Amino acid sequence: MNTGNGTRILVNEVATRDGFQMEGRFIPTEEKIALVDRLSGLGYAKIEVTSFTSPKAIPALRDGEEVMMRIARRPGVVYTALVPNLRGAERALDSRVDEFNVVMSAGESHNLANLRMTCEQSFSQLSEVIALARQAAVPVNVSLSCVFGCPMEGEVPPAAVLAWIERFAALDVRGITLCDTTGMAYPTQVQAVCAAALERHPALDFTAHFHNTRGMGLVNTVAAVEAGIRRLDMSLGGIGGCPYAPGATGNVATEDVVHMLQCMGYDAGIDLEGLIGAAAQLEALVQHELPSQVSRAGHRLTRHAPPADFDDIVARAKARKEKEQA
Ligand code: COA
Ligand code: ZN
Repeated sequence: MNTGNGTRILVNEVATRDGFQMEGRFIPTEEKIALVDRLSGLGYAKIEVTSFTSPKAIPALRDGEEVMMRIARRPGVVYTALVPNLRGAERALDSRVDEFNVVMSAGESHNLANLRMTCEQSFSQLSEVIALARQAAVPVNVSLSCVFGCPMEGEVPPAAVLAWIERFAALDVRGITLCDTTGMAYPTQVQAVCAAALERHPALDFTAHFHNTRGMGLVNTVAAVEAGIRRLDMSLGGIGGCPYAPGATGNVATEDVVHMLQCMGYDAGIDLEGLIGAAAQLEALVQHELPSQVSRAGHRLTRHAPPADFDDIVARAKARKEKEQA
């Protein structure tokens, strides 16, 4: 394992999209805006603010336009949104997004369940979205779901993943996110898939996106970074998940990943104490305990008070030592 040596990692926050889409409670629009505005000051490269999906499919994000239009845009932060089809792209353009994050799955069954289209139908729809983006001079990132496995089909062959990347690369997209939608990835697989993608397409901006469903989120993150990935999606508090992917749970938690990367010597550019404060605000919003750990435990060098009788313990140990020496 390598030390970070100050290597810059670009952090993308997805709590207000991947996170809120999965919450039972509708988070009021004002609260969404207030949270994005707070996060904007913490050092993120990108914030996935919302999605422009069907309000029937994702009712939690039916206020996408209002949120996108009313957040305070901080220069240097890319404000992106998930776009599944042409209708979503038009809404995203009207809301002045900085980037389209178009989505489709590398697994046929998940694509059908999530987007009600075959992969080919999605690709054809997204090709039109990409053409629209080009006319409007909006950059496009592709979030490819189920890269490391499909919850309904099992293994997704790496060759199929690489073929989708190839087809999107031919459309001149700026970047591709390799999404582990339901936490099926494991470190050696992550290493192999990320290395193959980077080797074939050195000019594309690759991002890794992990869910912690089986407790492998952090180790998969290390595997991706060691393979050369420099952009990571993560979710404050570890909330998140796809409502149309059976068994999905939250993303890797931003505070857990940032804390780990900082310990290892990477430069994530993020204010950890600020994150922990924002996680407390998020917990109040979602009204349940967050799955993240560093938001509760704090930094590894957080110092705890000794036991109440500590002075007595020290005095007795000293007395014993003096008696032994006498
Ligand atoms: N935004 C708002 N409304 C949309 C829309 C969009 N992007 N796309 C479609 N609609 C509306 C249509 O106008 C139509 O409305 P109507 O019933 O009032 O006429 C209705 O939704 C059905 O349209 P259709 O094109 O048949 O869509 P569909 O029902 O086949 O659903 C998707 C396809 C892609 C729109 C839908 O499955 C979706 O939004 N999925 C997103 C899932 C998601 O975000 N998952 C988590 C992230 S991975
Ligand atoms: Zn996700």
